[in-house]
Amino acid sequence: MARLLRVTGCTVVITIDGPSGVGKSTVSRLVARQLGLAYLDTGATYRAATLAILQSGIDTQDETAVVEELNHRTIDYDERGVLLDGESVAFAVRSEEVTANVSAVSAHPMVRSAVVEIQRRWVAFHEDQAVVEGRDIGTVVFPEAPLKIYLTASPSVRALRRAAESEAGGKSVAEISEALAARDHADSTREASPLKPADDAVVIDTGEMTVEAVVDSIVAHFLT
Ligand code: DC
Repeated sequence: MARLLRVTGCTVVITIDGPSGVGKSTVSRLVARQLGLAYLDTGATYRAATLAILQSGIDTQDETAVVEELNHRTIDYDERGVLLDGESVAFAVRSEEVTANVSAVSAHPMVRSAVVEIQRRWVAFHEDQAVVEGRDIGTVVFPEAPLKIYLTASPSVRALRRAAESEAGGKSVAEISEALAARDHADSTREASPLKPADDAVVIDTGEMTVEAVVDSIVAHFLT
């Protein structure tokens, strides 16, 4: 199936947005693989920015200082995932400390415009043939994308899924649920590019669906 849709000059960007723990990464990777498209996890760029701020000891709420620091740092991707100043930080950006601070850093409008540029450049480099996962991809980053997906699932389903992941670090479902709710609230109520479905997004509730069924549904929407 690889390279099935790789047609230079034709935009084949599929955006997949939704809250934490809804299955975006797993589904996005599989859709990309099935359609022969590149895959971009935009959350990783915000996580790398957050890691840089935590390393420097800057107050995450201080937008001017945050942006000043990020002006001296480089965020990029290679085949291993996200890079900070040329070093792979794919593992480090999944830490609990980064997860707890990423909503604060990603809420700053100036951070968002810098990070969105990185994301758009990456997709252009891949000749506009990509599945791009995040929170504002269909609404802000690629509003002209031919297919926009918004994944949802109830908070309890998402907390149970997260608890089953190794990343959960042995936390109880109640603790995970509380942390997810706090991040959802911050991500969907911020002023800059809040988490919400694009008006023309296909909304899929993944609560009762297998991963394969979600992937099949997205591929079917794309091919029709
Ligand atoms: O998908 P994730 O959990 O790795 O994302 C981490 C955080 O990054 C998320 O809580 C909000 C922010 N984010 C964002 O604001 N916009 C995106 N397109 C992707 C992520």
